Amino acid sequence: MNPSSLFKAAVAGTGSYLPDKVLTNKDLENTLDTSDEWITTRTGIKERRIAADNESASTMAFEAGKKALSSARLEPEQVDMVIVCTSTPDVLFPSTACFVQKELGAVNSAAYDISAVCSGFVFGLSIAEQYLKTGRYDHILVIGSEANSRIVDWSDRSTCILFGDGAGAVLLKKTDQEEPVGILSSHIYSDGALTDLIVVPGGIGTTGVNKQDIDDNKYFIKMSGNATFKVAVKRMANVIQEALDFNEIKMEEVSLLLPHQANQRIVSAVAEKLNFPEEKIYMTIQKYGNTSAASIPIGIADAMEEGKIKPGDVSVLGVVGAGLTWGSAVIKW
Ligand code: ACO
Repeated sequence: MNPSSLFKAAVAGTGSYLPDKVLTNKDLENTLDTSDEWITTRTGIKERRIAADNESASTMAFEAGKKALSSARLEPEQVDMVIVCTSTPDVLFPSTACFVQKELGAVNSAAYDISAVCSGFVFGLSIAEQYLKTGRYDHILVIGSEANSRIVDWSDRSTCILFGDGAGAVLLKKTDQEEPVGILSSHIYSDGALTDLIVVPGGIGTTGVNKQDIDDNKYFIKMSGNATFKVAVKRMANVIQEALDFNEIKMEEVSLLLPHQANQRIVSAVAEKLNFPEEKIYMTIQKYGNTSAASIPIGIADAMEEGKIKPGDVSVLGVVGAGLTWGSAVIKW
């Protein structure tokens, strides 16, 4: 059972931003030895969004964050912390969050990035949860934002078909209300023994950005898809089950599963393992592909907009990403 804390961390606002440019599987057929049929049956993806030249992780994060603040009816000055979860920062430093903070006018916040790849948002949520539940802060903006199109090798059909760009944001607030609400739990894990599964291997701190690594396409995503698939199903199912057990919640009490959108078949395999009905799973992969750390907050914002999340509902988030990293969270709305 969840140990009692001084305060609760409730969701006060949500927002998402997707670039206008749509890249369909049919479009990819023109440049790659692939087919709409292969991509659809193997992944569930039909199309993905691609950032325009003047868009980046920070600009998309800003748009999503602005919407989350507006839906929470909060002024930027009231935000105590801006956490941007991204693996595609605008530059190596300063953090993407500092650019976002400036654009938002969140002048009273501490702003920083966290790097947990696809699991980033659940990690960020878990950090925010601790600050709010102890009463240290009142309002924390957690944003997942990715410009994945900038780090995929567009000649590698085994990876480039998977990824898309976008951002999602959640504004969390401290509350002292009695009944359970907000983030009921979060569980986050890493296994550095599996760094080779998904990696952008080009040297930065080791060798400095260097021509050899550029020529060898090492500043792009490399993935052992099959091995990752198997690990992802097992870890995601286990960490979701752990979240339910921790809160003493039965599967039937969950209104919506909001999983990371890496592959429709991963999500279906997880649902089968947990005996969870597919109709209670919120999917965006068909239209956005894998937006890495942005995928869960985009799902939350879109589900909210479609009226699929109502006060009192319980949702479970589950994710696996590079690192390996994985995690889950339970939210009562
Ligand atoms: N079009 C057509 N054929 C293709 C394509 C493509 N786009 N990509 C690969 N193929 C071929 C392969 O070359 C291979 O051909 P061969 O049998 O002649 O060698 C065949 O299709 C099967 O390839 P597999 O890699 O075995 O295909 P699989 O069914 O495993 O699907 C996929 C690949 C979609 C990548 C899957 O393994 C997957 O989703 N893995 C998990 C991804 C994931 O969860 N990542 C974690 C998050 S990402 C992050 O953290 C950044």
